Amino acid sequence: MSDKLKRLLSSAGSIARERNAEKLIPLLADLAKDLLEVDRCSLFLHDSSKDTLYTMVAHGNVKIEVPANAGVVGAVFASGEPLLIHDAYADPRFNKEVDKATGYITRNILAVPLTDSRGRVIGVFQAINKLSGDFSLEDMELLQLLATYAGNSIEAGLLYQKIRSAYRETVMRLSHAAEYKDPETYNHIVRIGLIASLIAQKSGYDEEYCYNLQMAAPMHDIGKIGVPDAILLKKGKLEGEEWEIMKRHTIIGYEILKDSENELLQMAARISLEHHERWDGTGYPYGKRGEEICVEARITSIADVFDALTSKRPYKPAWSVEEALDYMRRLSGKHFDPELLEVFFQNLEEVLIIKEKYPD
Ligand code: C2E
Ligand code: SIN
Ligand code: SIN
Ligand code: SIN
Ligand code: SIN
Ligand code: FE
Ligand code: FE
Repeated sequence: MSDKLKRLLSSAGSIARERNAEKLIPLLADLAKDLLEVDRCSLFLHDSSKDTLYTMVAHGNVKIEVPANAGVVGAVFASGEPLLIHDAYADPRFNKEVDKATGYITRNILAVPLTDSRGRVIGVFQAINKLSGDFSLEDMELLQLLATYAGNSIEAGLLYQKIRSAYRETVMRLSHAAEYKDPETYNHIVRIGLIASLIAQKSGYDEEYCYNLQMAAPMHDIGKIGVPDAILLKKGKLEGEEWEIMKRHTIIGYEILKDSENELLQMAARISLEHHERWDGTGYPYGKRGEEICVEARITSIADVFDALTSKRPYKPAWSVEEALDYMRRLSGKHFDPELLEVFFQNLEEVLIIKEKYPD
């Protein structure tokens, strides 16, 4: 037992740090498989909207989803009590259909409830086929201990994901609001974030940077909120003073965002300010050149121009992808950072998948 306890404690750190429930669950299943010396472990979570129990990735099987009151896991879920089944085929609660479908032979089963921090049952932790002999009461205690831990971690992970996705949607919807008067779609905003993040990822930036960019790039035109409709929605070309006013959307956005201490909003402020600067110094508002322009703005500029060109605007029809790419290729080293533009071209296939997945 002390040997097992050591293994448990040594994995506990990495498990506690993992906040992504989809990565957490395989880690927990591995740990349980290792500690209990069984063939398979699965974690079933309750889906309250469908009243089913479903597995995320588990050992040796594809996703399983069963009614919340069915089978051994259903019995454990309903009662909140652990269940040790020495001979699966002799137990009426055991559902042989899964074995039939997969060709697997279940001998014995240990299943315990997963509970959240308030003691509510949120799922079932199941171990199948003890490698040598049968499950003991010690195994049951161990799996219960692990289940307490797993339940709390999964709850925290799911909550974290929920907050993150609410945050993402808030960012996207508010960024979209700035351009709402345009026929620009919500998906335009989503695409810019995903394309910018793709370029960053393929250029070797880490996951956190790419995530921040995915959130920050959609805010690049938030300063358009300060541009009068008559200019923003003008069907034709912008003249003299109109163009000077339009160009101010960069500085307006920067002013809106710049005072935040939040790293992501600071990045968004820099992007807003510099996303129309050009590599050769001919852009606005300041005519910065080359690496004086922050990298996140250089990346966003590629995503923005590509998406603007291939989308319909009040002042122009949509260009074809080929026309947009030809145009952009000619501006390598002029408008665009040549290295980043090369990364964009190297990964066009994925760019086009993003466009397909998030159409106007
Ligand atoms: P946007 O529509 O989001 O366009 C972003 C950038 O994509 C443009 O930045 C430009 O670099 C590129 N782009 C978009 N459409 C075209 C095009 O038809 N031809 C070329 N060569 N490039 C294009 P830019 O030029 O700094 O414009 C910034 C914003 O100013 C645009 O954002 C749009 O809201 C507005 N704008 C630009 N030109 C006009 C215009 O002629 N009429 C009106 N009503 N608005 C304009
Ligand atoms: C959404 O907020 O609707 C999803 C956007 C995304 O996938 O980034
Ligand atoms: C525009 O349509 O006015 C923008 C042309 C450019 O990219 O300079
Ligand atoms: C500004 O002066 O508004 C911008 C400062 C900078 O990032 O260059
Ligand atoms: C898009 O940019 O995904 C759509 C282009 C279009 O407006 O046809
Ligand atoms: Fe802009
Ligand atoms: Fe834009």
